[in-house]
Amino acid sequence: MFSDLPFFPQQASTFAGRVDLLYAFLIAISVFFSVLIFALLAFFAVKYRRRGSDEWPGRVQEPLALELAWTLIPLGIVVVIFVWSTQLYISMNRPPAQAMDVYVVGKRWMWKVQHLTGHREINELHVPLGMPVKLHLTSEDVIHSFFVPAFRIKKDAVPGRYQTAWFEATRPGRYHLFCAEYCGTKHSGMIGSVVVMEPAEFQSWLSGGAAGASLAASGQKLFAELACVTCHRPDATGRGPILDGLFGKTVKLANGETATADEAYIRESIVTPSAKVVAGYQPVMPTYQGLVSEESLMQLVAYIQTLKAPEGTERGRVIQ
Ligand code: CUA
Repeated sequence: MFSDLPFFPQQASTFAGRVDLLYAFLIAISVFFSVLIFALLAFFAVKYRRRGSDEWPGRVQEPLALELAWTLIPLGIVVVIFVWSTQLYISMNRPPAQAMDVYVVGKRWMWKVQHLTGHREINELHVPLGMPVKLHLTSEDVIHSFFVPAFRIKKDAVPGRYQTAWFEATRPGRYHLFCAEYCGTKHSGMIGSVVVMEPAEFQSWLSGGAAGASLAASGQKLFAELACVTCHRPDATGRGPILDGLFGKTVKLANGETATADEAYIRESIVTPSAKVVAGYQPVMPTYQGLVSEESLMQLVAYIQTLKAPEGTERGRVIQ
């Protein structure tokens, strides 16, 4: 709809049209009221100008209808803006369940991308057309922001946190990827591109590149290398909690609170094990802060997500 206008970026995702429509509405409202107010200002300045040095304004009765009009009309308009933008915000923050997961780490000054298949990219992200893509974003150092104007998405990559964003590309091509949060000397050079390909083309891109091990398999390898496996055993003989079937469950903590075993929880438990100690266990796990890169943490998290509880067993005391 606005793609012909030079100041709107290309529209290449399912959000682009919706975001632009809301934006155009806000501009239209602003322009309408600016013009109205300035025109009335000029008109009244002339109409009610002082005609002589002995002229004094009379008493003015405040008309109720006018008071109500300039209170209720703006109220109605902001309620419309609120409902409209909230709906858009919610749909932009709820990735569909079948979305393709992509793991992104921001680092001064580059974007490092890992696909579940094990494909890795730097400053590039290849995605298939017409398929929802869910980004898991974090940062290795300072706050960055993943911004693709053509998709109308922008999400901060914050150190120590996992943020998600999603999009569905609607047009093949190569689109700008920017860092939209000032992050140091080469912030302006922290750029890349998102390449949207036809699904078949994307499949051949996947099979063409050197994939290496899948994200979860790399995580499994790390799990053994870091000796996590010595304490986190699938039976109840380890010193650490059983991780099989853990992901997504509610965990009972030693301090009586509970936590959801999501990506952030698992990451925190690796980096700062003492932050949330599982009920029934001693805080004996050493910290892996600084020993495992953010990319490796994502691999470990991906691996732990794949661990399923054995058939017909209850996860016992760990799970509430
Ligand atoms: Cu990274 Cu600005």
